[in-house]
Amino acid sequence: MPNKENKGKKTEDMINLVDNLNQKDDLNYNRRAFLKSAVGASITLGLATIPFSIKAMMDDGVEDENRVEIVDLEDLPKGTSVNFNYPTEHEPAILVHTPRGELKAYNNKCTHLQCPVFYEKENDTLLCPCHKGYFNVDSGHPEAGPPQRELPLIELEVHNGTVYAVGRKIRHG
Ligand code: FES
Repeated sequence: MPNKENKGKKTEDMINLVDNLNQKDDLNYNRRAFLKSAVGASITLGLATIPFSIKAMMDDGVEDENRVEIVDLEDLPKGTSVNFNYPTEHEPAILVHTPRGELKAYNNKCTHLQCPVFYEKENDTLLCPCHKGYFNVDSGHPEAGPPQRELPLIELEVHNGTVYAVGRKIRHG
């Protein structure tokens, strides 16, 4: 036969049980709410980054395909360079006729802090005088100084002695 003390204990146990059930519900609810908001955040982030992903994919290939006349080859002896704009009037570029007879062209805004890059004939290199950044004239890759990224490559064609810019590749790595 239950005495008064046991009756009190049973009531206390019931209260603890209900508390535990409530805590378990809270936990389930919180877990569900967390998962919902995490999934929501992932979807939102994923959607928000789609334009950047598309741009990154486009940057890996030929981006511009305008055809622009640069210079007559006879006016550009080996070991000299000429400036032009490509693909728009606001994007400065440099065409180099190397001492080895090759034609190389790049957008010539330094990839460090945008100073103009020049051809230095004595060292057959591309130099940014702002912080002494050097780029390889054959590849446009940074060789010394602060720049870490290569210059955008401009693709060239020569027709009847005239040099044309025909495309641009923005490269990474
Ligand atoms: S801007 Fe060219 S090295 Fe700094």
